[in-house]
Amino acid sequence: MRSSFTALTWIVLLATAGYQRVAADDPSFRNTVYLIRNGETNTKEFGSGLTQTGILRSQCLPSVFGPNTAQTVGYILAEPPLKRKSNVSDAVDTVIPLAESLRIPIDISCGHDDKDCVAEALSTFAVKNSTASMLVVWDSDLLPDIAEALGASDVNDWPKGRHDLIWTIQKNKIRSRASEACPGLDNVVPV
Ligand SMILES: *[C@@H]1O[C@H](CO)[C@@H](O)[C@H](O)[C@H]1NC(C)=O
Ligand SMILES: *[C@@H]1O[C@H](CO)[C@@H](O)[C@H](O)[C@H]1NC(C)=O
Repeated sequence: MRSSFTALTWIVLLATAGYQRVAADDPSFRNTVYLIRNGETNTKEFGSGLTQTGILRSQCLPSVFGPNTAQTVGYILAEPPLKRKSNVSDAVDTVIPLAESLRIPIDISCGHDDKDCVAEALSTFAVKNSTASMLVVWDSDLLPDIAEALGASDVNDWPKGRHDLIWTIQKNKIRSRASEACPGLDNVVPV
């Protein structure tokens, strides 16, 4: 397993101080956005560390969103580590192997509860690259709110206990809810 120091070297804090992102109610970009939850954790609480299953899931993600896959992403936005336990970072840990495989940074510049910041960060990236797909990894509580901030309406809660789901959003709608289908972890049952 990688040390958290190595992990941190992959995290780039995109500077936000003094920088106002444009407000975006229903973002108009065409890029595909994938929403996923952090991998399995030791307790239900966010910030308790990935279990062995969660670690295996993180290692599976390069085969789902990495280079030369059907869903390659060009941007990763993750829930930031808890301030009080700054070495505990479930969402970031979930995508470190993926970020390494893609050789791109993990943006952790949005606050835990700031769905609008997430939508604006995605819009900002989309202006720079109008074709690359984007990945959001967050605690399941905020994911439906993030989907709504991206224009989807009346979004239900993230299904309990599901760490394998991918919600695919294109042009302000959730187009699919599929499984990561990680070998050995996920039964590929339609949702
Ligand atoms: C957009 O992203 C794709 C996929 O990451 C990349 O191949 C391409 O070079 C990027 N284009 C620009 C203009 O940055
Ligand atoms: C995280 O930090 C806490 C307190 O500083 C420490 O007890 C714990 O061992 C650290 N965990 C890891 C995985 O480094």
